[in-house]
Amino acid sequence: MSVMNNEVVRVLKERRSARNYLPKPIPREILEDIIDCGRLAPSANNSQPWVFVVVTEEAGKKEISRLATWGKFIADAAACVAVFCERNNPHGVEDGSAATENIIIAAKSYGIDSCWVAGYRRTYSDDIRKFLEVPGNYELISLVSLGYSDERPRRLKKELNEVLKWEKFH
Ligand SMILES: Cc1cc2nc3c(=O)[nH]c(=O)nc-3n(C[C@H](O)[C@H](O)[C@H](O)COP(=O)(O)O)c2cc1C
Repeated sequence: MSVMNNEVVRVLKERRSARNYLPKPIPREILEDIIDCGRLAPSANNSQPWVFVVVTEEAGKKEISRLATWGKFIADAAACVAVFCERNNPHGVEDGSAATENIIIAAKSYGIDSCWVAGYRRTYSDDIRKFLEVPGNYELISLVSLGYSDERPRRLKKELNEVLKWEKFH
């Protein structure tokens, strides 16, 4: 049986993190559709414990980039999405990560590159939450920088045969 060559698979395989962005804004309706894909992600018991804060203004991106240790490039992105989930939800980190990946893949399908920036239980997580005026019953799961980019992929990937085990680990 031949492997299907469909659009989603192509996007999944072409996605790589980009940390250099062109000074080109993302249309609001595209940002909205990207977040729409985030909110349609699976969540345990369909609890949908998330809220997405999209930051496009320079001052906001600058402050987040100042706070996020390994996210200095957020300042130059067209947008930054902060994914929050309800703090007391036992699956918040899994649900928020599923939504984060949906956002990243939806963006790529629009030709927009991204980088997942660590947000979950970092030293700066609560400072970012407070800066964005998100109530304390939510916690930051991730930050996603979004922007058009001509950066070339650089990270090497493990080969499929290194990580795929059939039936059992042996
Ligand atoms: C949970 C998580 C946290 C990450 N945090 C950061 C980060 O703080 N800064 C950064 O530059 N990249 C971050 N990344 C991106 C990874 O470095 C990147 O995905 C990895 O090197 C593989 O490269 P690729 O995305 O191009 O496949 C993070 C990725 C994940 C999944």
